[in-house]
Amino acid sequence: MNIVEWDDTLLTGNDEVDRQHQAIFRIANELHHAILEGNGQEMVSKVAAKMYQYSMEHFEAEEKLMAACGYPQLSQHRHAHEKVTSVVREFHKTQQGVAPFHVLQFLVSLIRVHIREIDAPMIRWVREHGEDRNSPSTNPGRLNVTD
Ligand SMILES: [Fe+2]
Ligand SMILES: [Fe+2]
Repeated sequence: MNIVEWDDTLLTGNDEVDRQHQAIFRIANELHHAILEGNGQEMVSKVAAKMYQYSMEHFEAEEKLMAACGYPQLSQHRHAHEKVTSVVREFHKTQQGVAPFHVLQFLVSLIRVHIREIDAPMIRWVREHGEDRNSPSTNPGRLNVTD
């Protein structure tokens, strides 16, 4: 049984951000399954490493996207990213000392609070205002932060 289920209402249209968000759902479900099978502790270092990489790449991608579109809540959103990153850094440092359930709780809250409540309105705004600022015909890759 999955602890979190991806749904397409979370698709942003930005491939990189969507792939990264889907990855976090996968990581949470993998850890949940490992805990149910009694292998949670063995998964903690793998999850900590993945989360560390995720927080660097994903938050940078989102912040670049917000800056490119002049998102007015960028500094608050960046602050929320910093708070998540400090927890992830702590997990990465301590690894085996962290209880698997504690890491799982963190991941679920990252999805429910950050992705669903903080990212979702940002993405709506970026999509709406990105259209006004950049014509698709002149800048078709405007939402592709990898460009
Ligand atoms: Fe995000
Ligand atoms: Fe975010």
